[in-house]
Amino acid sequence: MSYRNDSDSVELGECTRNPGYKDADGDGPAARDNISVSDSEEKRDSIGVKRLSDARDEYTQIKPYAGMPKEVLVLYSSKARYRVPREILFWLTVCCTLAMVAVTIAVIALSPKCLSWWQASPVYQIYPRSFKDSDGDGVGDLKGIREKLDHFEYLNIKSIWISPFYRSPMKDFGYDVEDFRDIDPLFGTMKDFEDLLAAMHSKGLKLIMDFIPNHTSDLHRWFNLSRTRDPHYEDYYVWTDCKPDGPKPNNWVSIFGNSSWTYDEVRGQCYLHQFLKEQPDLNFRNPDVIKEMIDIIHFWLEKGVDGFRMDAVKHMLEAPHMRDEPQVDPNKPPELVTTEWDLHSDYTTSQVGLHDILREFRAQMDIYSQEPGRYRFMVTESYDYEEVYKTMMYYGSRLEKEGDFPFNFYLLDLPHNTSGVWAKHLVHLWMGNMPKGKWPNWVVGNHDRTRISSSAGRLYVRAINMLLLTLPGTATTYYGEEIGMENINVTASQIQDPAGKYNTSASRDPQRSPLQWNADTNAGFNEKTNLTWLPLHPDYETVNVEDQMKDDGSVLAQYRFLNTLRQSELPLNRGWFCYVHADANVFSYIRELDGLKRAFLIVVNFGKESAVTDLSSVRELPDELKVLMSTTIANDGKVFPKSRIQTEVGEGLVIQYSTNTLFNPNHPEECYISEKACYLETIDILYKC
Ligand code: GLC
Ligand code: MG
Repeated sequence: MSYRNDSDSVELGECTRNPGYKDADGDGPAARDNISVSDSEEKRDSIGVKRLSDARDEYTQIKPYAGMPKEVLVLYSSKARYRVPREILFWLTVCCTLAMVAVTIAVIALSPKCLSWWQASPVYQIYPRSFKDSDGDGVGDLKGIREKLDHFEYLNIKSIWISPFYRSPMKDFGYDVEDFRDIDPLFGTMKDFEDLLAAMHSKGLKLIMDFIPNHTSDLHRWFNLSRTRDPHYEDYYVWTDCKPDGPKPNNWVSIFGNSSWTYDEVRGQCYLHQFLKEQPDLNFRNPDVIKEMIDIIHFWLEKGVDGFRMDAVKHMLEAPHMRDEPQVDPNKPPELVTTEWDLHSDYTTSQVGLHDILREFRAQMDIYSQEPGRYRFMVTESYDYEEVYKTMMYYGSRLEKEGDFPFNFYLLDLPHNTSGVWAKHLVHLWMGNMPKGKWPNWVVGNHDRTRISSSAGRLYVRAINMLLLTLPGTATTYYGEEIGMENINVTASQIQDPAGKYNTSASRDPQRSPLQWNADTNAGFNEKTNLTWLPLHPDYETVNVEDQMKDDGSVLAQYRFLNTLRQSELPLNRGWFCYVHADANVFSYIRELDGLKRAFLIVVNFGKESAVTDLSSVRELPDELKVLMSTTIANDGKVFPKSRIQTEVGEGLVIQYSTNTLFNPNHPEECYISEKACYLETIDILYKC
């Protein structure tokens, strides 16, 4: 049978004979044939056609059954008792999904950025010649580093910068690169490198390589091709006309002393070297040179390295006009102008265009950073001394990225005047000049500088480590600082460093002695023979890793405690940093996070006398302060009234306290933060605020 309506018709075929038919009174199947057939026929007879609504009324009397024809099902499903709950469920699902999407977006939008690996851990610098010698030739090597990776697990350090291990004639101990794509046999093979990297990655450690863009070794293939005027390589270095015995092309001097020009007999011209004469400067005005360096960056990134420390970057470009640089003392006879301190290095450093090249390097690294969890880090080395603004430019601009940070060398100057005020001044040089939102960092030693324990004195070693690990930002630890190693004495006949051969007092050997692992022969640095490339420090029998691991009060144990505390406490790893006090002895600051009651007060005595510090005017501090950790272990747990906080010379205190009133809202001009985050105690999350 069929029912037709012009606008709204339904066709019902034979199959509408419905075994589940039920009349309105629910008489059941027994009556169905009679009623349905005769009724409907009757209506059809009288009207001729049936309206859809009538059909719906009729067919929705049918009890649903499996295999109902579509048309019946449609009629059924439009009944309010089915339609309304269905629509409610539908809209509920839509609303829940939208709410979940909105919550997800809100959580993502409100969450502060997680700290990246280079922010979360200190960077540990390995000078590979001196870390661990695995083959007994007296010089450390890559296999040696691999043997000692547990040291970093113990210290809770994740980022390792290794000074150069490229193939090199070692005139500047690896900073004179002969082949940027090869490993020097002294350190091992490419396989050793790959094994080391894999072992590091499997322990969650990151490897930062040294990258030396400014110069190559004079044995580099490019230099040979350049001095023989191969058309492609002719301009790879900075050449200019000069006579073998004539005057130098200008008054520019090398960092290691004397003219930075050397005559090359093969080419019959002078080449520029801002460091050793065996380290000719590359010509970064030649786009092919930039391309070569980018290819080398790609080479190592593809091998999986996690970042680069870019060496001596301010020297990469020189002024093409090559004019004499102005003398610091204009009256000094020109023949006595022999050191970098005699000249304003206006034409040999920080030239226009330098940052464009570095930003290009950065951009390449960003390409390799896209893989989740594989951020490639870049730090630049540039000593700009009082010209802080020059250093800050290596952070990049708001629109273009450059290094993640330039090394902050200002704390190297701490020993110059050990006092609380001086410490604050040096810290503030960075905090007060760093572009907003950038990440600070701190260095107190490296392979070029006297060890801080020798320049400041052993008395301050623990306090300096405390400063490094409680300031905001990334600390760099030069190998041995974690145990308080000191410089060695190197006699004239023992000098290895080329800088020391020019000028004994400039030798960098004293800070490069082998790491003191234990009290055995050669301090455990070389367990196979009796060779060490530089003498050991005689104190290795008492100052060494193994013994300090057994002693809770050791420099090592304190380093480890502070580093672990820093990584587990939000105020220390990403909170506000606020100056509280500085005087002739004490430097004191607060670390806190909005929304979190737990905060830290650091009090460090860098002076020459014991001190009693009165912080009673700091109303945000509770009246009684309990020492969580003192560099003098006997003072752990001591309670001081805030008006009388006692410290001995070289003592540092970490005080943990609880407060309802944070310091930063009342003293914004005393406080710094890289990226503000707040803490919601009730659900234990961080959010942007
Ligand atoms: C950097 C290195 C230093 C090296 C110089 C030349 O300053 O840290 O060790 O001698 O560059 O490459
Ligand atoms: Mg250069």
